[in-house]
Amino acid sequence: MTAGSGEVVLALRDVSKSFGPVVALRSGRIEARTGSIHALVGENGAGKSTLVKIVAGVHRRDAGEFLLGGEEVDFGSTAESKDAGVAVIYQEPTLFPDLSVTENIFMGRQPTGRGRRIDRAAMYAETERLFARLGVHIDPRRPALGLSIADQQILEIAKAISLDARLLIMDEPTAALSGVEVDRLFAVARSLRDEGRALIFISHRFDEVFGLCDTITVMRDGSYVDTVAAAGTSVDGIVSMMVGREVGDLFPKTPAELGEPVLKVEGLSSAGLFHDVSFEVRAGEIVGLAGLVGAGRSEVARAVFGVDRYDAGTVTLDGTSVPKHNPRAAIHRGIAFIPEDRRKQGLVTDASVARNIAGVIRGGLSRFGLLTGSDEGRAARPWAEKLEVKTSALDMTAATMSGGNQQKVVIAKWLATDPRLLIIDEPTRGIDVGTKAEVHRLLSELAGQGMAILMISSELPEVLGMADRVLVLCEGRLTADIPRDQATPENVMRAATQTHQEASA
Ligand SMILES: Nc1ncnc2c1ncn2[C@@H]1O[C@H](COP(=O)(O)OP(=O)(O)OP(=O)(O)O)[C@@H](O)[C@H]1O
Ligand SMILES: [Mg+2]
Repeated sequence: MTAGSGEVVLALRDVSKSFGPVVALRSGRIEARTGSIHALVGENGAGKSTLVKIVAGVHRRDAGEFLLGGEEVDFGSTAESKDAGVAVIYQEPTLFPDLSVTENIFMGRQPTGRGRRIDRAAMYAETERLFARLGVHIDPRRPALGLSIADQQILEIAKAISLDARLLIMDEPTAALSGVEVDRLFAVARSLRDEGRALIFISHRFDEVFGLCDTITVMRDGSYVDTVAAAGTSVDGIVSMMVGREVGDLFPKTPAELGEPVLKVEGLSSAGLFHDVSFEVRAGEIVGLAGLVGAGRSEVARAVFGVDRYDAGTVTLDGTSVPKHNPRAAIHRGIAFIPEDRRKQGLVTDASVARNIAGVIRGGLSRFGLLTGSDEGRAARPWAEKLEVKTSALDMTAATMSGGNQQKVVIAKWLATDPRLLIIDEPTRGIDVGTKAEVHRLLSELAGQGMAILMISSELPEVLGMADRVLVLCEGRLTADIPRDQATPENVMRAATQTHQEASA
């Protein structure tokens, strides 16, 4: 255990939590100090979010010590935790969309002026001051509705500062952010650290953990493993503590035997989103779609699958055109689409895992009569096993699964449809390092069996490691089509930042 220099703000020792028969947290332990950013890492389902929720007052611990500022506490609600100076920033903040940015920050404690009227001017001024301090530009009077996730998180942080939180916990805050937004969030985190607050940061991305944090606590299977100084350890060291076994090659790409073109996209355009996009994906091929966030990658994928409309162009699968704006027909033709935002678009969170996996194939199974629970289990099981979703968990409702396991369920559900073309957006977002290699192996294997795969990813190593060919989008236009042996970080980045004028020059 490394001794940091600051004062201990939060101390958890041997904290446990079970939900019925499920032990979510066996013996959680962490010490967060002032002036420190402390990483909490571990595989999917290791118990990180459960530990955070105990500190946040969402759950009550079953046993163990929980000290805040040296005093034993036991929060029965999130309000109690907030009052004690704890702020938690989740991946998807929950704001009131109809209220203004300022009203969200001052929710429940509006400053009152003369005659006990809410002093709006004072509120706006205070919000401006908070935003200036955080170095962000958000109109204090605008509604929260329509703010980017990055701005919503900043809003939560502004709120935490205005409440003078001494402990700020961020549970996978960067999963939905672009590179620039991550940089801004980190700058804010560092300045809060320098003010002497304590921060806890959860992420599956080691570049972030090592770039931001000074101390790292590792968890495995609900238990504390060790706490180390970031400067004294390496990614490999952390990974072996996390998984307790060897992790295979992260990019187990096997040479592809390319067949006929499966997907042909010609002249696809959608006003304001993308323009004149043409490409092919052949049987057995993994095509990576790279580009900066906002370049139009997900938009192109959504149009091909038919969830969004497009203005011009054609999409053909195996030589026959795919009807426009008709995802049902696309599924029927053998296209699977695993969206980026899997929680919102991919999962029925109050249904069981088995039902979620079997959901898409239901059409097929139910043709032979009524679909029973055991049919669902049968269809789901092989895919769940491949992705290491614990099968005992198949009857669980998806909402109680860990974030990473939810991701796996959505992937399993689509693979069970045995598609011709798989479109997968950010395949390993939120997935731990062990399973990441597993997902990559699976993609490589499926391509080896002749599936055509279009993979969108913001992680350059993933694109370069897995794709046979890299397409690069910039501001809605294709700027490069690079074969695997020529794809380097430099030429992908160059094409990703090239403007339209340069491209056509
Ligand atoms: N309300 C609940 N009911 C039942 N089981 C739960 C509940 N909340 C969490 N669990 C289980 O507890 C275990 C730990 O989950 P937790 O969300 O803490 O993991 P995590 O470390 O945050 O993982 P990830 O990296 O995937 O987010 C998981 O097996 C999960 O399914
Ligand atoms: Mg989690």
